[in-house]
Amino acid sequence: MIVTFTANPSIDRTASIATPVARGGVNRLGTVTSEPGGKGVNVSRAIHLAGQETVAVLPADDHDPLIAGLREIGVPHRNVPVGQPIRSNLTIVESDGTTTKLNEPGPRIDDEELVALRNSVVAAARSTRGHRADWVALCGSLPPGAAPNSYGHLVELLHQLNVRVAVDTSDAPLKALAEGLPRWAPDLVKPNSEELGQLAGVDGSSFEEQAAQGNWEPVLAAARSLNDRGIREVLVTLGGSGALLVTEEGAWHATPPAITVASTVGAGDSSLAGYLLASLERLAPDERLQRAVAYGTAAASLPGSQIPTPDQAQPGQVTVTRLA
Ligand SMILES: Nc1ncnc2c1ncn2[C@@H]1O[C@H](COP(=O)(O)OP(=O)(O)OP(=O)(O)O)[C@@H](O)[C@H]1O
Ligand SMILES: [Mg+2]
Repeated sequence: MIVTFTANPSIDRTASIATPVARGGVNRLGTVTSEPGGKGVNVSRAIHLAGQETVAVLPADDHDPLIAGLREIGVPHRNVPVGQPIRSNLTIVESDGTTTKLNEPGPRIDDEELVALRNSVVAAARSTRGHRADWVALCGSLPPGAAPNSYGHLVELLHQLNVRVAVDTSDAPLKALAEGLPRWAPDLVKPNSEELGQLAGVDGSSFEEQAAQGNWEPVLAAARSLNDRGIREVLVTLGGSGALLVTEEGAWHATPPAITVASTVGAGDSSLAGYLLASLERLAPDERLQRAVAYGTAAASLPGSQIPTPDQAQPGQVTVTRLA
């Protein structure tokens, strides 16, 4: 059973546009789709599509369109009312695949609501339909009003329940988490190259390009430095270059097949879901990595924020190599 926490969810609107976006001009959009979104929601959607148990914990009123959307797709959830509408994030996809995101900050959440959310995550982790969670995934940005170290505190609470915790976030909450290592070390992190840089305190801007040239050393060294600071599993996704996994059992990198990219929105979230699904099946680290990349790449080949089904993820097409 996988619990996800989306502290700052959104309704993800994806719009196509036939011409390049004209800054300062009038832009006429083509088709516009709207789906329940936010990183933890995306992870729960993938887990649910794979037929595994999941609960998405998130702030939202019962009558919010986001909750209606979750009901429609049948994703189990626990929502904490906040008396304000959930934000919409707009992604504009140009015909050549160029993607522009316009994200709202999200509603401000007060201390009482934050405590209610934390309690809801802990309650879901402790027991949902009689099962303790195998993993809790803390995903995405924090809402305005939340302390940057909110995820660190949750890691500590969840570890008291003996539940494994994954974190996928960026910027201030990620830096706060880095400052709290090793005390607040989650069991798994899923940074992209930039986020790995933020966590490890190095410049990650060339990790992807270096990996594309077959030079995995710099990203491996940064990931290992996180193992040394208490994070047992470090899954670094590197866009089209695939991903790297470092655990105490070893290090591997995985390369996806060449695909036509439709939309990378939700690709990283799908990678995390693929990894967690493989972990539920108790697969070996190299196979968990392979599944992560298969899921990420399947998501990148699907339009909008569409989440892959197990049939769409093809681990057999992903090459995994052990690093010395
Ligand atoms: N151009 C691409 N070709 C093939 N696969 C891709 C491409 N871009 C992304 N992917 C797949 O998606 C995975 C995650 O991508 P990326 O590292 O960009 O995640 P991210 O930055 O965390 O994304 P998100 O916006 O969802 O947070 C990659 O490991 C890979 O499997
Ligand atoms: Mg990401």
